[in-house]
Amino acid sequence: RKNLKGRSFLTLKDFTPDEIQYMLDLAANLKAKKKKGITGTTLQGKNVALLFEKPSTRTRCAFTVACIDEGAHPEYLGKDDIQLGHKESVEDTARVLGRMFDGIEFRGFSHETVEKLAKYSGVPVWNGLTDTYHPTQILADFLTLMENFGHLKGLNLVYIGDGRNNMANSMLIGSGKMGVNITIIAPKELWPTQDIVDVAKEYAQESGAQILVTDEVSAVKDADAIYTDVWTSMGEEDKAAERIGLLQPYQVNRELMEMTGKKETIFMHCLPAVKGNEVTEEVFESEKSVVFDEAENRMHTIKAVMVATLGR
Ligand code: CP
Ligand code: NVA
Repeated sequence: RKNLKGRSFLTLKDFTPDEIQYMLDLAANLKAKKKKGITGTTLQGKNVALLFEKPSTRTRCAFTVACIDEGAHPEYLGKDDIQLGHKESVEDTARVLGRMFDGIEFRGFSHETVEKLAKYSGVPVWNGLTDTYHPTQILADFLTLMENFGHLKGLNLVYIGDGRNNMANSMLIGSGKMGVNITIIAPKELWPTQDIVDVAKEYAQESGAQILVTDEVSAVKDADAIYTDVWTSMGEEDKAAERIGLLQPYQVNRELMEMTGKKETIFMHCLPAVKGNEVTEEVFESEKSVVFDEAENRMHTIKAVMVATLGR
């Protein structure tokens, strides 16, 4: 057992591999219970604020259902509902919310906002996605990998597409921590920034993960899982045409799946997907696609994060 009480969950950088594994195992446990119809009471009496500057299906619903399953009250606060950063500073909003709520989820643009919320609210803050990181998604994806392969260490994970977005960043960090071999395949213009790669490589020295960034599509060889994400993330819609031009050769289609040389290679995507762009309808709908397992696992893993950091 690990004691994570009172901790915020802003990026996976803040957690040891053992702590990450603990949250994954807790999620698997909570999932098995939920399948039997057993929910918990660890968050009874707690009030949880769900702050969203950007839209969401999975993350919002995962936090809401997870709260209610464990007895907490979730309160959704969309971008037009509160004054966050406009008529009231993030610092002041954080101090107000911290007086009323026991935990705060934040999804939005600047990663600095979620850091300020954590610093000034005095309660656990969970990152539901910023421009820079999407750490709860990695927990769901790693739980899905564990379900498919029985382990994480030594798996070959390929992330192909926009190599500089929140998903690529968090995937690099999570893989480096957990000993998953991660290959980022992207055009040079969309390679991850060097600081993220350096951080991942530092973790990899401990875990034994291999980290590779390349623009060669042939690097999908031997992949156990191929992961992709939208070519334009929330907030960068104006880049859509440019990205299609750059990323067309990096589409996940049947030919690319076959290039791994492994029949068992699974297809992963955090969703929502733009079919015909980053993935073909055929691969998305194929039996190799685990995208809806990942979506479901958002709920079990987010529940584990809240139970671990706030639960009785
Ligand atoms: N994957 C994910 O975060 O989905 P939402 O944007 O719907 O929350
Ligand atoms: N990179 C995507 C992830 C969505 C879950 C975005 O930020 O829009």
